[in-house]
Amino acid sequence: MIKREKVKELLLSEPGQEVLAKGWVRTKRGNKNVMFIALNDGSTISNIQIVVDVPVFDEDMLKEITTGASIRVTGKLVKSQGQGQSVEIVARELEVYGTCDPEKYPLQKKGHSMEFLREIAHLRPRTNTFGAVLRIRHAMAFAIHKYFNDRGFYYLHTPIVTGSDAEGAGEMFRVTTLDLDNVPKKADGSIDYSEDFFGKETNLTVSGQLEGELGALSLGEIYTFGPTFRAENSNTPRHLAEFWMIEPEMAFYDINDNMDLAEDLTKFLIRYALDNCSEDLEFLNRMIDKGLIERLHFITDNDFVRTTYTEAVKILEKAGRKWEFPVSWGNDLKAEHERYLVEEHFKRPVMLTDYPMGIKAFYMKQNDDGKTVRGLDVLFPRIGEIIGGSQREEIYEKLEGRIKELGIPEEDLWWYLETRKFGSVPHSGFGLGFERLILFVTGMSNIRDVIPFPRTPGSAEF
Ligand code: 4AD
Ligand code: MG
Repeated sequence: MIKREKVKELLLSEPGQEVLAKGWVRTKRGNKNVMFIALNDGSTISNIQIVVDVPVFDEDMLKEITTGASIRVTGKLVKSQGQGQSVEIVARELEVYGTCDPEKYPLQKKGHSMEFLREIAHLRPRTNTFGAVLRIRHAMAFAIHKYFNDRGFYYLHTPIVTGSDAEGAGEMFRVTTLDLDNVPKKADGSIDYSEDFFGKETNLTVSGQLEGELGALSLGEIYTFGPTFRAENSNTPRHLAEFWMIEPEMAFYDINDNMDLAEDLTKFLIRYALDNCSEDLEFLNRMIDKGLIERLHFITDNDFVRTTYTEAVKILEKAGRKWEFPVSWGNDLKAEHERYLVEEHFKRPVMLTDYPMGIKAFYMKQNDDGKTVRGLDVLFPRIGEIIGGSQREEIYEKLEGRIKELGIPEEDLWWYLETRKFGSVPHSGFGLGFERLILFVTGMSNIRDVIPFPRTPGSAEF
């Protein structure tokens, strides 16, 4: 028996040997004497060509070989006579695993719109574009683990179900087994969560940070990499209700150490993609975004700008623009402002720090000015915010004061506060939005197209 080889390996193999390939038919062409099948198995963007001597094979079987059908082929790997490939397989045996009715198969040869492909998310990974995106997504996930492992960070598994609101933004999905048609109530009419599965109110996590901090304050340097959930009604090309986030958290890091890590990590990941995903990137550069590869090199080759929120507001005020959302100190920056700073003013990725306390989460380290906190946002071209993080408030009284001011239920966070009593240290961390990274690295324009099965308001198919 010959061992099955993947198309990626076959295309790099020496001609002359007998081979076995399995995959899906991308296209079929030819005449009554010879047929050419382009076979793809997902291992690479390239197809391998199968040459079929038509009269040798059963006519009915050959008719079943249509676009989308899955087949098995054995034959000799030979140097290709045609253009566009180095080797091809001269078929000796062909078997059809699954037929595919050409009338009904939604993936036709013509290009489909991204919107249409979203409706067939069960089949879209078979297109060149989604194959490329998903392979790059895999490579980035692998590179993230490699980066941290090589630097002594531990992968900490933080919970998906939590009883606290890590961002204090109230955008959480409830987790409950209560009978929604007959919810138990307390005497005052409020829901009695003591009867719920966990005996308390729980939700899907918006961030692994708070538990990540517990890890950093014992293991030193940790990272999380998992799904996070936000029930915000944001129908934009940059927001998902379920997205993946990478959250490193480091003891003894101040805000500058945090920025160094953010810049080094993102550059490493982009370099990794350039070095390891070149075929897929070249395809995307050709078909999706002509400036893609140049932009990726630009990031790895240039320093990120480091400045403060306050400086950024001054720049935006002087920009002489009519903004959709007005700029003034104390308001959060919107995508239009972030993109102006990155794409037009600095023309480089920008790291902004020292945001007004009022627009940032409770856990950020308070500056001595009493007005700003040591928050950090990393802004990228085309994307806007790709990373959000901060140095953390390590002083018990200040942290508790902020929690009280914001009316956050202290009983949900007693364990978090305790770390500031028992050997508290300066520490920092950030969250890198995985899909925003993939958007940037692939040149795709909608976040729904860089995750296999997107969850957005009103949509949870597949
Ligand atoms: O800025 P965010 O909300 O920060 C946190 O959650 C912190 N707890 C992270 C930390 O310090 N450990 O989110 C971090 C990043 C954003 O910069 C963005 O890239 C991504 O997560 N993000 C989203 N990505 C897709 N869809 C959404 N709805 C997102 N919300 C945030
Ligand atoms: Mg943020």
